[in-house]
Amino acid sequence: MRKPDIFDEIIQCLKTSEKTGADTSMSEATLHDFYSAPVRKAAPRPQAQVALAQNIQGVPPAYAPDLPEWESLRTECAACMKCRLGPTRTNMVFADGNPHAELMFIGEGPGADEDATGVPFVGRAGELLSRMIAAMTFDRKTETCIANIVKCRPPGNRNPADDEAAACMPYLKRQIAMVNPKVIVLLGAVPLLYLFNLKGIMRLRGRWLDYDGIPVMPTYHPAFLLRNPPAKKDAWADLQAVMAVFGRKPAPRR
Ligand code: URA
Repeated sequence: MRKPDIFDEIIQCLKTSEKTGADTSMSEATLHDFYSAPVRKAAPRPQAQVALAQNIQGVPPAYAPDLPEWESLRTECAACMKCRLGPTRTNMVFADGNPHAELMFIGEGPGADEDATGVPFVGRAGELLSRMIAAMTFDRKTETCIANIVKCRPPGNRNPADDEAAACMPYLKRQIAMVNPKVIVLLGAVPLLYLFNLKGIMRLRGRWLDYDGIPVMPTYHPAFLLRNPPAKKDAWADLQAVMAVFGRKPAPRR
């Protein structure tokens, strides 16, 4: 049986308060867990997946057979030196999940863990993102596709610079066109800025935007949520709005 996580607890609280109208505060223990429990480091990935992300020859990509253009774009990106991030990367970080997914997440850019593995969102923020996706009742690997504004790590975990984002955006735009998801979720201020030229994630989170006919929900970045746990409530409201598009409801707690 799956161990309940923080998002299960929120769901339960919201459900109870919906039914009874009562202010069902979480227990002290849960609040402590929700707001301060350290997020486990992501488990190391099987070698085949790292190899896939690195586009090592000979490892059959999970979804490539019917999407060769996805793999040729991956190869193109792996050779890219269009900006100053190219020469300093360990691995180009292309995407994770399923390029046929109906739900796409877009983050900022790789951090140290992603640079080391070639897979987006595998560090602490990635662990939280995985939990958020599970709480939405989606399977990260098969039902979502995860990409970033830039595919190479900005040194020192800084945000991508304008020229770096400009160099990398054509790749992301081609990825979005190939995936053609039903909904895109933007994680934080950086994708909001570079996909929509909009500033103000605090103000704009939770409000639907439109990207080429695709509904887009901006919400907080998981790294921000790790630093500001009370904001998880708002992020969960945003994710529930996304779930409603798919007709999904939080899974009942067991
Ligand atoms: N943060 C991001 O925005 N993307 C990643 O891939 C990892 C952390």
